[in-house]
Amino acid sequence: MSRWSLSAGALCGALIVLGGSAVASGPEPVRLPAPQKAGGKPLMQCLAERHSERAFADRPLPDQVLSNLLWAAWGVNRPEAGKRTAPSANNRQEISVYVARADGLYLYDATDHALERILSSDIRAATGRQEYVGEAAVNLVYVADTTKMKATTEETINLYAGADTGFIAENVYLFCASEGLACCVRAMIDRDALAKTMGLGPEQRIVLAHSIGYPAPAAEETH
Ligand SMILES: Cc1cc2nc3c(=O)[nH]c(=O)nc-3n(C[C@H](O)[C@H](O)[C@H](O)COP(=O)(O)O)c2cc1C
Repeated sequence: MSRWSLSAGALCGALIVLGGSAVASGPEPVRLPAPQKAGGKPLMQCLAERHSERAFADRPLPDQVLSNLLWAAWGVNRPEAGKRTAPSANNRQEISVYVARADGLYLYDATDHALERILSSDIRAATGRQEYVGEAAVNLVYVADTTKMKATTEETINLYAGADTGFIAENVYLFCASEGLACCVRAMIDRDALAKTMGLGPEQRIVLAHSIGYPAPAAEETH
């Protein structure tokens, strides 16, 4: 593994403590392994197997799986145009994908296919109101940056942000079906509390979150 490897402990940058949360300063992006764009189950099989699952094994996602997951979700698939694996209204690309893992909170940078470290604390349980959330290896938090949107009315902002997030979430569902991962998209979130924990600004709106991990052994047997 290169010095960019997540598991190699390359998460450097001086740490400071702000309001009780450890925050990484001096952004030192953690580059993910290149996504594997070939393979996976056939699309029709993924559609047949797509489902929500809420019981997770206590097992982290390997860096390569996380890399593939994030690329499938919202990666750049046409670098010459900077376009993505999911559509967005007016190509505004206003959705940010935050990645909450046991070792911290990161922001996915699709252009560099890297993670920017935001917090060094485990905020997984705070990304939802249900107990299983804290047990998932990864919780993605989909956040709309309203300053990037062409929409002018509240109704259109909510419509576009919801639709654009839905496409990303479905990519995640299909990737999980392909990989045999458990996942569940979620709206039950204490948005005010989570926004505060994540240090979001007033222009950033949490749309949905998505719990992902290996299925709990009992659940594995039933699928
Ligand atoms: C917008 C949206 C919000 C959801 N919110 C939650 C949630 O907060 N908690 C949860 O456990 N499941 C949540 N779900 C998952 C649904 O309950 C699930 O998709 C539904 O029961 C159908 O099951 P399936 O995904 O296996 O087809 C949500 C799904 C969607 C599309």
